[in-house]
Amino acid sequence: MPLLLGQDPAAIEQAAQRLAHGGLVGLPTETVYGLAADAENASAVRGIFAAKGRPADHPLIVHVGPDAPRTAIDAFAREVPAFAERLIAAFWPGPLTLILPRRADVAAVAAGGQDSVGLRCPAHPVAQAVLSAAAAHGVRGLAAPSANRFGRVSPTTAAHVAEEFADLGESELLILDGGACPVGIESTIIDCTRGHPVLLRPGVLTAAQLEAAAGEPLRARDGAAPRASGTLESHYAPRAKVRLMDARQLRAAFEVLGQDTKHIALYTRSAIDAARGTPHRRMPDNAVAAAQELFAVLRELDATGVRLIWVETPPDGPEWDGVRDRLGRAAA
Ligand code: TXA
Ligand code: MG
Repeated sequence: MPLLLGQDPAAIEQAAQRLAHGGLVGLPTETVYGLAADAENASAVRGIFAAKGRPADHPLIVHVGPDAPRTAIDAFAREVPAFAERLIAAFWPGPLTLILPRRADVAAVAAGGQDSVGLRCPAHPVAQAVLSAAAAHGVRGLAAPSANRFGRVSPTTAAHVAEEFADLGESELLILDGGACPVGIESTIIDCTRGHPVLLRPGVLTAAQLEAAAGEPLRARDGAAPRASGTLESHYAPRAKVRLMDARQLRAAFEVLGQDTKHIALYTRSAIDAARGTPHRRMPDNAVAAAQELFAVLRELDATGVRLIWVETPPDGPEWDGVRDRLGRAAA
């Protein structure tokens, strides 16, 4: 089992030392838990790809500390367009990742061979404390994908991370427990390498908020956009098959089953009176609350051993874009 520690200063320092020596650390961010390594240590970063089973050409996000974000940005990015500067000013630290042109000589392995680099300054106090402590040991950035096996549901608690990497020993992975992640779905990703902002992955920030800050319309990604794990059609998948249905389809499907519901779990907005012992969770009416619990609910329903998880389609509003996106991929 991995080594599980809390968030006291001694634990933070132990994590920072591991990172400085090329080790792996599971740590909380405000979005999801990340599996972190020194972004500029190629063998440490290869350790992330190996632990996750993630293809080496899928780039990782580099996390930078809150102390001197300008220095950190300039350490990894070749140039920062004006609209990206405005996004940074508006949303950092926070759940926003910017893809920027990469300095040719840094973090090539973390960038998965792209000539760009994804940068994010997280708002979580534990992530920030680790970044600051690691910086004192000369670590300028932490490459950290979500701390789950490739294609699986992202972790929002330290226990989820320990579950995902139960086969790693205490010397191979240290996990800092900072409680449940407050945002619950991964950061919004905006590609800033094309002269205008391109949305690669929606998160909890709405398009309207992003456009207001950027001062430019947000474009949708096209075929030329770089490959991104979180943007693969099928991702975030529990073991059980996820199916998305509206309330009417759900009721009709449930009626057809009669008593034969033992292989099904439900995550619905409306009350389903036919629950009859079926594992069932109600989706909050509020998009922020739904995002916060989404991955934990999928894991919990999956753990009941059902074959199918039927999920009611979330509402249409723009504040639901991130949740709709993750459910769509979980169901693909
Ligand atoms: O909220 C988050 O972003 C979390 C926490 C831990 O910070 N991290 C996260 O990492 O979700 P990951 O690796 O699971 O997803 C990062 C996404 C991937 O889809 C990756 O391909 C994309 O960012 N990405 C990173 N660098 C990129 C680049 N240079 N070009 C295009 N996509 C990039
Ligand atoms: Mg991920």
